[in-house]
Amino acid sequence: YPKKYLIGGNWKCNGTKESVAKLVKTLNSAGPIPPWVEVVVGVPAIHIGDVLKTIRKDISVAAQDCSATGYGAFTGELAAPMLADFGVSWVILGHSERRTNQKESSELVATKTKAALDAGLSVMVCVGETLEEREAGKIDAVVLDDHMGALKGKFSDVEWAKIAIAYEPVWAIGTGKTASPEQAQDVHASIRGWLAANVSPAVAAATRIQYGGSMKGANAPGLLAKPDIDGGLIGGASLKAEFITGIAAAA
Ligand code: G3H
Repeated sequence: YPKKYLIGGNWKCNGTKESVAKLVKTLNSAGPIPPWVEVVVGVPAIHIGDVLKTIRKDISVAAQDCSATGYGAFTGELAAPMLADFGVSWVILGHSERRTNQKESSELVATKTKAALDAGLSVMVCVGETLEEREAGKIDAVVLDDHMGALKGKFSDVEWAKIAIAYEPVWAIGTGKTASPEQAQDVHASIRGWLAANVSPAVAAATRIQYGGSMKGANAPGLLAKPDIDGGLIGGASLKAEFITGIAAAA
């Protein structure tokens, strides 16, 4: 399977020791993951050590952020090489919640992406427009020119092989309002076109573009059937068995 579907879970800032242990048990016993599907869970930093030790081997662990720096005098930061040293293989960067709440710029997201790749991590870079931006006809300006644009010219094709793009329209996140398969497919096709024009046709063909925003078992088959939708980044539904039985199994 040269291009596996990429099903990412984003637990966000959820989970007690007890509920995380229970969730790991649930996922571990949720049935098989098809061999053409790669499954990753984005775990709050403090739970990563426990989850790495207990989760089934066919689910990888992602951090939900990393610092732009390495080891050193950076109080409160979590460096990419530190994550890699623990056995974390992925990091989610540029989530809209961080772009909004922590004022992360596209430039910073690109710098963090470089730091993560240098540490050997794979990266899911999140991009996506707000409802206001969509209604003002600014999808391309935000998603392509700004969010994708900051990645231009920064990575080799070999590095791009470790980058996935998660298209998450902000208006669909946690709202129960999913983009229709057609709406998502349109933007995914533009992102792939951007990659072909600004990176290379080979990278455009190989890059996994995930959809995120109220994805669940009920709507996953329709979204994943679209030609440019290569996976998902799932918030709420990643905290349930449905993440495997309804979403990974639908890919
Ligand atoms: O990273 C995941 C997204 O923000 C989607 O969250 O599935 O709860 O809408 P949601």
